[in-house]
Amino acid sequence: MKKLIIAFVMAVVPTFGMAAGGGINLDSADIDLGDQASLQRGAKLFVNSCLSCHSAQYQRYNRMAKDLGMSEEEVKANLMFTTDKIGDTMKVAMKPEDAAAWFGTLPPDLSVIARSRGVDWLYTYLRGFYVDENRPFGVNNIVFPDVGMPHVFWEQQGMQKAIFKDVDGKQVFDSFELVSKGTMSTEEFDGTMRDLTAFLSYIGEPIQMERKALGVKVIIFLLFFFVVAIMLKKEYWKDVH
Ligand code: HEC
Repeated sequence: MKKLIIAFVMAVVPTFGMAAGGGINLDSADIDLGDQASLQRGAKLFVNSCLSCHSAQYQRYNRMAKDLGMSEEEVKANLMFTTDKIGDTMKVAMKPEDAAAWFGTLPPDLSVIARSRGVDWLYTYLRGFYVDENRPFGVNNIVFPDVGMPHVFWEQQGMQKAIFKDVDGKQVFDSFELVSKGTMSTEEFDGTMRDLTAFLSYIGEPIQMERKALGVKVIIFLLFFFVVAIMLKKEYWKDVH
């Protein structure tokens, strides 16, 4: 019986994979996909600050309106800058050849970035730009060395310096130190980046909210059925022994 219970628990409890961060400790994004207000803020940040360079070519505006609890009119008025058709996907404003010329590399499509990199990596990346005079845009990134992307939120976050310490002759990242203040406090900026990360996680797998709700129902059903099965077994065998 004990074995049966252990096997059952192991079958229903999901195991979580760990995303690699290249030796840097990733901060936990701690997103809540049930929080529609957070996802809506994230969507706004995405279209205002990212869509100029990055597309999300698998995400349609009307699907987003439905999933995030917004009317199509709201989405049209506030979130659509690169098209006026609600059934369109989130295309980029910039021409690819311009991007290649300006950044030396094409800003990748971000539809599935949360799945390939993981949400903790994204959250750490968005908060991980630091001053580096040797880079074309004057910034580097702690989880993406020599990144070709500028620090989009420098006004909000401010500029930070990375402190490295010497461990066995190797330079290892230790901490950040703010060198010029932004318009947001650290807590505010972290919350804002959490919203954006949540939105990127959502577009990576729009079905995941439904999937999670369904999963809970399935587990409740299985637990219920497990009890019924045991009771039934007892009933069947009670006259045999
Ligand atoms: C000015 C153009 C520009 C804007 C605006 C911009 N990015 Fe980027 N981004 C780039 C470029 C260029 C790269 C490619 C960097 C490289 O490969 O070195 C990149 C890379 C990235 C990557 C890493 C992709 C990978 O290969 O893993 C992520 C994640 C990312 N951007 C997210 C964002 C988000 C989120 C926003 C909105 C806040 C944003 N970017 C805004 C230009 C931009």
